[in-house]
Amino acid sequence: MSSIPEIKLNDGLTLPTVGFGTYKLNGNAGANAINSAIDTGYRLIDTAYNYENEGTVGKAIQRASVPREELRVASKLPGRYHSYDKAVTTIQESLYRAGLDYYDLYLIHWPNPKQDIYVEAWQALIDAKKWGLIRSIGVCNFLPEHMERLEKETGTKPSMNQIELHPFFNQEEQRIWHEEKNIQTQSWSPLARASEVIENETIGSIADAHNKTITQVILRWHYQLGSIPIPKSSSPERQLENISIFDFSLSDEEMGRIAELTRPDGRIKDQDPATYEEF
Ligand SMILES: NC(=O)c1ccc[n+]([C@@H]2O[C@H](COP(=O)([O-])OP(=O)(O)OC[C@H]3O[C@@H](n4cnc5c(N)ncnc54)[C@H](OP(=O)(O)O)[C@@H]3O)[C@@H](O)[C@H]2O)c1
Repeated sequence: MSSIPEIKLNDGLTLPTVGFGTYKLNGNAGANAINSAIDTGYRLIDTAYNYENEGTVGKAIQRASVPREELRVASKLPGRYHSYDKAVTTIQESLYRAGLDYYDLYLIHWPNPKQDIYVEAWQALIDAKKWGLIRSIGVCNFLPEHMERLEKETGTKPSMNQIELHPFFNQEEQRIWHEEKNIQTQSWSPLARASEVIENETIGSIADAHNKTITQVILRWHYQLGSIPIPKSSSPERQLENISIFDFSLSDEEMGRIAELTRPDGRIKDQDPATYEEF
């Protein structure tokens, strides 16, 4: 088993610096993959109401080799339930589905700015935290203007923002903004879904120099940027590969070469949170 360094969020909750994504891990095969990840050393598990696998995650936690308290479990509120009352009920439903008494993290999945009621959703998360249903509250895919509004209208800022981040879309400006505000960045699709990025020649030559794989270099790059990657893998071997990144480091020059791979149209599916909405 491999152990992962931790960081502390602005509200005091500690999190491992690499987590485990569960999108597409459903049913018994999904639960087995999550149990394998826990056995391998993952302690942060990312799910969402919309992945329809909170039950799978809950089952894996029930039969896990480590106590519940050692895990950090995150879920997310869908766009169709942003109004205050619906958000409160959905958080409870999310917990029932997973068979949990609390989530360590609960995030608003998308801001849906045209719908424009994410502040109501945020108020529900603030209250659910007071009631002990959630330990730490955050967001996904929020732009600075959305987070500024949350803080201005409720007095509470997110502990974390989970955003699309990988070598083809490195989110430099947004990361700097998070750092200034002491909001933790987390990277979704950190391997860009293992598409062309894992065949990239630049990253490949850096990987060869360190005797590491391309995915290990990419995940180490996230770690050195200060962002928490949450790679998903159904394979025990790749799960181990993806957390075996703490025995080497990338030089400034190597970090710089990877930074040059970013491009304005580098998002996987053109999901710009300023306009894209998900329900
Ligand atoms: N907040 C949001 O809006 C949002 C959006 C998207 C995703 N997410 C979260 O972020 C998590 C991660 O993102 P993702 O699942 O989209 O993509 P990802 O983690 O970037 O990539 C997953 C893909 O990479 C493959 N893979 C993993 N490790 C590998 C390795 N070492 N070598 C080769 N291939 C490897 C996996 O295949 P195998 O399973 O076969 O290994 C899978 O096909 C999700 O699971 C979800 O929890 C959040």
